Amino acid sequence: MQDFEGRVAVITGGASGVGFGQAQVFGRLGCRIAIIDVRRDALDEAAARLADEGIDVYAVPLDIRDRDAWVRAVDEIEAHFADTVSLLFNTAGVNGFGPLDAATYADFDWVLGVNLGGVVNGIQTVLPRMIRAGRGGHIVSVASMAGFEGSPVAGIYAASKAAVITLMESYALSLGAHGIGVSVLCPASVRTDIAHALERRPDDLADGSSFRDDPGFVAAQQRLYEGGMDPVELAEHVRHAIEHDLLHVLPFIETREGLRRHQERILAAYDDYRTDPAAAAERLRAFDRYRTESGRLRAAEPHPATH
Ligand SMILES: NC(=O)c1ccc[n+]([C@@H]2O[C@H](COP(=O)([O-])OP(=O)(O)OC[C@H]3O[C@@H](n4cnc5c(N)ncnc54)[C@H](O)[C@@H]3O)[C@@H](O)[C@H]2O)c1
Repeated sequence: MQDFEGRVAVITGGASGVGFGQAQVFGRLGCRIAIIDVRRDALDEAAARLADEGIDVYAVPLDIRDRDAWVRAVDEIEAHFADTVSLLFNTAGVNGFGPLDAATYADFDWVLGVNLGGVVNGIQTVLPRMIRAGRGGHIVSVASMAGFEGSPVAGIYAASKAAVITLMESYALSLGAHGIGVSVLCPASVRTDIAHALERRPDDLADGSSFRDDPGFVAAQQRLYEGGMDPVELAEHVRHAIEHDLLHVLPFIETREGLRRHQERILAAYDDYRTDPAAAAERLRAFDRYRTESGRLRAAEPHPATH
């Protein structure tokens, strides 16, 4: 996708950090920007800053875990701009660090609910409308380099981001026929407010947490992110990905060697087992037959979103 002028872009987490950088970059390209965030004050402040730059911006408070509120929010955005959504940025996310063996259900529900559930809800709300509008578009979800490897202290976060990566890979394999591009952004460290994510934890999931919130730890985290990439620079990489229809957005070159080593460790695991090559070849033939047959069946069916 190359024509950003006048397109409506919805950006979750648009009040801060990565999402705010996306609002600036795509707003400057002429998109009409809807920023969504759970923090109303921060949202109003962000909208005022974007408007000062001359960006056409509309702000909608929303907890992205809330499916009904998503429908109301997108109805409101489409009515405001008198147009359908062409770009969806699933950017809002939260993180907490603590020992995984002390994690509570509330920790899981919060991090998975926002980081994975929020992405699912955004796509479930916006995608059918994009398909019906028939004008193409692009969906970007923000995962993390953390999604490629487990972590003893951010295991829930890593699992949520791993799910977002494979979900977006799956959408990329599904949406080509509709002219809708898909990208998954995997940042390492970005100069944002995410060290304070625990302050966004909702009251309904406040009880019992394994996540560290002592001021020394939060301050150390804050210093780490202060050394990260600028959100505007990151959003320019996302623009490049959209313009060239690239799925994996991996602009943090310093993580390349670690990812390669991790993937090699996974591949080396095959060597731990003695297997029968003839049986493997037979399984492959069964897969090929299944692919041909299911492709034929799929081609004969109407698509539910367009009929
Ligand atoms: N900062 C980094 O180093 C880094 C690294 C990898 C991935 N990421 C990812 O980037 C994305 C953006 O985070 P950021 O670093 O800009 O952090 P941030 O805290 O500056 O911004 C996140 C925004 O999401 C909002 N939010 C939180 N919960 C929400 C909810 N339930 N509904 C709606 N909005 C909600 C927050 O209010 C906040 O404005 C996240 O998905 C994060 O996991 C960040």
